[in-house]
Amino acid sequence: MKDQLQAIEKEALEQIAQIETLKDLQDVQVTYLGKKGSITGVLRGMGKLSPEERPVIGEMANKVRESIQTNLAEKKEAIELKELEIQLEAEKIDVTLPGRPVRVGGTHILHSIIEEIEDHFIGLGYEVKEGPEVETDYYNFEALNLPKGHPARDMQDSFYITNELLLRTHTSPVQARTMNALDGEPIRMICPGKVYRRDSDDATHSHQFTQIEGLYVDKNVRMSDLKGTLDLFAKKMFGTDREIRLRPSFFPFTEPSVEMDISCKVCSGEGCSVCKKTGWIEILGAGMVHPKVLEMAGYDPKVYTGFAFGMGPDRIAMLKYGVDDIRRFYTNDVRFLQQFHEA
Ligand code: PHE
Repeated sequence: MKDQLQAIEKEALEQIAQIETLKDLQDVQVTYLGKKGSITGVLRGMGKLSPEERPVIGEMANKVRESIQTNLAEKKEAIELKELEIQLEAEKIDVTLPGRPVRVGGTHILHSIIEEIEDHFIGLGYEVKEGPEVETDYYNFEALNLPKGHPARDMQDSFYITNELLLRTHTSPVQARTMNALDGEPIRMICPGKVYRRDSDDATHSHQFTQIEGLYVDKNVRMSDLKGTLDLFAKKMFGTDREIRLRPSFFPFTEPSVEMDISCKVCSGEGCSVCKKTGWIEILGAGMVHPKVLEMAGYDPKVYTGFAFGMGPDRIAMLKYGVDDIRRFYTNDVRFLQQFHEA
């Protein structure tokens, strides 16, 4: 039996020395140390031995088993180390390879225009206010002197969510909300944001566009204040050599109402294709806040007066940069949008 054990050990160690994979290692382990393995076989035969021989053979069998186990463990470690090395070699990073360029985004042109306008009015003491895009019929229309059934509602058809909820058609509801919340205190505010109208999209109409409106309510606010404010704005936005012109217009929430034009930059008033031979380009709507609107928001129209104006950053961007189609702002072609960023 001694010889048998020695032979097993010798054979096992030889085999272990040749193992190259973990799978082979597993097989060898089963062959020698498993339940049906050679060593177990020897131990089973111990019953036939004499009582003196038993401990000697037992001890020897244990030593052989330990020796095989140790060799297997060492081999396992060696194989794992080798596999790790192969893996590391395969995953080696070449730090000298050029990197992938990181694509840097930029501010959308409409947002840049809004920020520019905001900066100008913040400088004049205006606050920036925001409001919900899903608006109530009350704030979008009624609080602005457009009761249900008013014919001027036709100019601003919307997307209705319910009879009383709609996507706002202008940013004026933010003004009504702010006036309501302030309860009779003076206001200087501008409100930029997205607005929606049920229009058929074409080069100059988009069912979604942006607006920015301003409101100034206090004692003794006069039409001449409105004119001065708009003149300053036009010169800031379009150049100090621009002239403005106010034309009578109609909005239910302002009285009197005006439309503001700036002199055409391209022909300086001579008349060209950009200004349709008139020398003037329409920029915004404005007027003195209607006494009814003030009253509904809790202001006494005998004490307070105010002016409001509203414009479309889309139109301003189109004029400033010669963009021929409003839809370009919303179709997200990066080649178009990128032109307005440095690098
Ligand atoms: N809310 C108006 C519109 O969308 C614009 C406007 C605002 C006109 C404020 C006058 C005063 O057409």
